[in-house]
Amino acid sequence: MLKGKKIVLGITGSIAAYKACLVIRELVKRGAEVQVVITPAGKEFITPITLSTLTQKPVVSEFFSQRDGTWNSHVALGLWADAMLIAPCTASTLGKMANGVADNMLVTTYLSMKAPVFIAPAMDLDMYAHPSTARNIQRLKEYGNLFIEPASGFLASGLEGKGRMQEPEVIVDELDNFFEPKDLEGKDILITAGPTYEKIDPVRFIGNYSSGKMGFALAEECARRGAHVRLVSGPVSIKANHSNIERIDVESAQQMYDACLERFDKVDAAILCAAVADYRPEHSATEKIKRTADDMCLRLLPNKDIAAELGKRKTAGQTLVGFALETDHEKMHAIEKLKKKNLDFIVLNSLQNKGTCFMSDENQITILSAQGSTEYERKSKADGARDIVEHLVKTMYDKH
Ligand code: CTP
Repeated sequence: MLKGKKIVLGITGSIAAYKACLVIRELVKRGAEVQVVITPAGKEFITPITLSTLTQKPVVSEFFSQRDGTWNSHVALGLWADAMLIAPCTASTLGKMANGVADNMLVTTYLSMKAPVFIAPAMDLDMYAHPSTARNIQRLKEYGNLFIEPASGFLASGLEGKGRMQEPEVIVDELDNFFEPKDLEGKDILITAGPTYEKIDPVRFIGNYSSGKMGFALAEECARRGAHVRLVSGPVSIKANHSNIERIDVESAQQMYDACLERFDKVDAAILCAAVADYRPEHSATEKIKRTADDMCLRLLPNKDIAAELGKRKTAGQTLVGFALETDHEKMHAIEKLKKKNLDFIVLNSLQNKGTCFMSDENQITILSAQGSTEYERKSKADGARDIVEHLVKTMYDKH
């Protein structure tokens, strides 16, 4: 949650300084306010004009402003910030920080900082491997600074090593995670996502357009808030990133049903986001079905309803959330499903909202429960996931 957060971004003299622009853009996109403090060497790599345009704030570099001689207060910056991020941080700045060598505005600000400090090192791989760098990093870790591991690259010797600054998005994700409320710490959450494939023969199936994006966004959001997530996913082409997510891949509705039932007893909540096929072919051929001149008839059998089954097994302490995708009489159908499946709340997704739902990155949802309904604005699936998890947390805490 970076919205409204005040970040002091320290930039030092590394070739990776150009990437600081991408870091700023990502921070600003997520709602943070950014104040740049740059070292004299940093200015050799990137101009303050570029940085101040991106942050909408003058860049701080010298102790005194050259224009009017006003004093730039490192103490005030230390009190203003919710976090300081130094990206890129060179070996030289690491050394100065570890030893209190306050000969520039950046290190002075660092020493006055009251907020947590994140450091994203960037240097030549041999410099990073040097014991002196390792010692400085060790010392800075002991002082409570948070390190963002550099990425891998190749040494001059051809061997693999580290030192390259981590990607801007990964850096900003780490800050984002840090500020996320950990209100699901210790909770276990089951999430279904994606479509199911119902086999006709070895090369054909009945499926649907679900991309799994909503379910995966929910899994990331629950994980960020501290939950252990069991993500049961149908065939999708996306990845789950957070280490708190345990992914269980399935193909058919029956496999998804089995995977969910096996785990439901152990979880505090389940979010059923998958677009489960309602029917499967009665027979799935072991060999590829050949074309003939005749009509072909495929007899379908109903699949089990995972949500309804979990609704039956739900204990008083467990929370169950479903999704509804409707084209007509949306609220009425959604409320029917809420009751029939014994859900705590249901997230309604209307197909009448063009450009949302399947394959899209955006969603417009309504949350319905016995307590009433809440309509949300159209937003990204990641932001939508936050609204849903917010509601989930409230429902879970109301039960206890
Ligand atoms: N669901 C499920 N297992 C199924 C079918 C649906 O767990 N076999 C879940 C979905 O993940 C969703 C909710 O039930 O959370 C509603 O899904 P939907 O397909 O809209 O409901 P159906 O009961 O299949 O109703 P219909 O297709 O007739 O609208």
